[in-house]
Amino acid sequence: MTPIIEIKHITKEFRVLNRREGLRGSLQDLFSRNYKIVRAVDDISMEIGQGEIVGYLGPNGAGKSTTIKMMTGVLEPTSGEILVAGSVPYRSRTKNAGQIGVVFGQRSQLWWALPLIESFRLLKDIYCIPDAAYQEMLDFYRSLMDIEPLLHKPVRQMSLGQRTLSDILAAFLHDPKIVFLDEPTIGLDVAMKARIRTLIHALNREKHTTVILTTHDMGDVDALCRRIVIIDKGRMLYDNDITHLRGFFGAYRTLKVRMDGDLAAQAAVIRKELPDCSVTADEEWISVLVNEEQARVLDVLALLQKTHDIRDMQLQEISTEEVIKKIYEEGVQ
Ligand SMILES: Nc1ncnc2c1ncn2[C@@H]1O[C@H](COP(=O)(O)OP(=O)(O)OP(=O)(O)O)[C@@H](O)[C@H]1O
Ligand SMILES: [Mg+2]
Repeated sequence: MTPIIEIKHITKEFRVLNRREGLRGSLQDLFSRNYKIVRAVDDISMEIGQGEIVGYLGPNGAGKSTTIKMMTGVLEPTSGEILVAGSVPYRSRTKNAGQIGVVFGQRSQLWWALPLIESFRLLKDIYCIPDAAYQEMLDFYRSLMDIEPLLHKPVRQMSLGQRTLSDILAAFLHDPKIVFLDEPTIGLDVAMKARIRTLIHALNREKHTTVILTTHDMGDVDALCRRIVIIDKGRMLYDNDITHLRGFFGAYRTLKVRMDGDLAAQAAVIRKELPDCSVTADEEWISVLVNEEQARVLDVLALLQKTHDIRDMQLQEISTEEVIKKIYEEGVQ
């Protein structure tokens, strides 16, 4: 099967001004500019097949958004080759736009003042969607969720969750081959995250759309992706089926407990009590990373309650950052 996205050895460098400090420095900058090169993406290669949902992960500043901008044709790589649905995205931007949909969780792509249905009508004209296909897509959306309350609301009056749902529906409207979702669940509560995941899953399954998803939320990855690609400092760290990692990160959860007194000192005590768990403390919480193959979270909590006066607790799934840290530590491939 020919891949829908082919990336060969792409690199992206930015030239950024090396600002000097103080008034004197600012004046010097005016006359002689001193630049440095930032390599945001460093020799990345991958192939993605039609219908795949790929989790594209990495810590802040790893180069995820920069890679997506190159795939969508917004940025041109410094070197290397990209083919998206058979064309070079930054050379054939109009053609590429018809093949792809994009959602940046941080800002909406929709017309702020218009009710969603008006944005949909504009998109219908922009992408030359035939009447029948447009109606069919709206009917499909109606079968997935109650879209009526969204359709007549201006985007600026929507909650973040409603806006994200709208952005996703808008991105899939012209039935693109590929949809890029850059942190679509950022800032959403648990219930809305679940709705967004269900929607993405249904669209991928029904329309066979390829989805490239960046996220810091391991829950998104777990719910949606079979394959994950991890980058760090612009370089490829991991590209494999998620099952290779699941057994390894799936067993870990973080138990956070709050107690009075000096948390750093109490964390040191807990470290002795629980030698198999990694224990850290910040100003508010003591975090205990529990490997559930070795110990049950409830047992760990019961043990801590015997010797400490616990005021509050939280349970957290492992984050993408923790997965990456463990990949480094244990060298999983
Ligand atoms: N237009 C630009 N000019 C200069 N440097 C840039 C530009 N865009 C990105 N960078 C730099 O490139 C690196 C990668 O940024 P990028 O936005 O791709 O990271 P990211 O993986 O999306 O991070 P995050 O998880 O925070 O969104 C960072 O060091 C960033 O400062
Ligand atoms: Mg980003």
